[in-house]
Amino acid sequence: MLIGKSPKIPTSEIISETTYLNRRKFLGQSTALIAGSSLLGSANAGLQPDDEITPEDIVTQFNNFYEFGTDKSDPYENAHTLTTDPWTVTVSGAAKKTGEFAFEDIIKGMTAEERIYRFRCVEAWSMVVPWMGIELKKILEQFEPTGDAKYVEFKTLVRPEEMPGQRSFFSSIDWPYVEGLRMDEAYNPLSIMVTGLFGKELPNQNGAPWRLMVPWKYGFKSVKSIVSIHFTDKQPLNTWQQLQASEYGFYANVNPAVSHPRWSQASERRLPSTLFNTNRRPTLPFNGYAEEVAHLYKGMDLKKFY
Ligand code: MTE
Repeated sequence: MLIGKSPKIPTSEIISETTYLNRRKFLGQSTALIAGSSLLGSANAGLQPDDEITPEDIVTQFNNFYEFGTDKSDPYENAHTLTTDPWTVTVSGAAKKTGEFAFEDIIKGMTAEERIYRFRCVEAWSMVVPWMGIELKKILEQFEPTGDAKYVEFKTLVRPEEMPGQRSFFSSIDWPYVEGLRMDEAYNPLSIMVTGLFGKELPNQNGAPWRLMVPWKYGFKSVKSIVSIHFTDKQPLNTWQQLQASEYGFYANVNPAVSHPRWSQASERRLPSTLFNTNRRPTLPFNGYAEEVAHLYKGMDLKKFY
């Protein structure tokens, strides 16, 4: 059975809800098997034995997407106003193939695979999310970036008529929301462009029709509803760095040893969490993905490059 009404993602690439639910049951029953399981495979490296998939209603109703408001419930309540079809992406800068591309054409013939990743927000809450995505490297390579492409910058849609947060007088963000990666970070096999969630089409509030996911970095790096990809030799000035550079940097690698100036990052609140059971656990370096990504930062002072 195929799930999702989207004509955009080839249907063979969306797993059925039954498969997903079975997999979830499997995760719940024998979490100790996660690391070695061939069913889940290497795509789920980094998961810890006690990691359980976060309930779907939390993943889709507790969100940060300031274009739709600053409360955690605002994106779920407001994002239904967003139209994502047609969706055009502008590719520019240091690449051989630039211009305007239909989203469908960019992902044509590519297979979205499930990646169950730990997801850690800079605000110190965390989840475990079954994303459906395509390796970012495969997407970017088709534009043939040149030697001058040292970084890639992404921007979110600006459409105030559909995004109440962009109309708000109280917003301090200079839209569009901007994020970026070094090219070697972008080409790491863990970096994906997400097109689905829980075996279904990606909901608007989670960044439809596609959003970035770099699981070893704080969640603000994973820019949603992307309409611009720009290859550049300059380090992009990402939105949160623009807003408060002393608190949010470019790298944003999850690091228990580097506190946010206003709170500790040594531990995190795994959702669901309540007053009586805060579900706190230690934060892991690179969010548990050190083996896959620590080499990217060899010799760098991670206290300076936060
Ligand atoms: N992308 C855009 N365009 N606007 C945002 O406000 N918030 C970021 C990131 N991407 C944000 C964004 C932050 S702070 C986090 S933690 C994640 O999205 C949240 O993703 P989720 O709502 O799917 O959990």
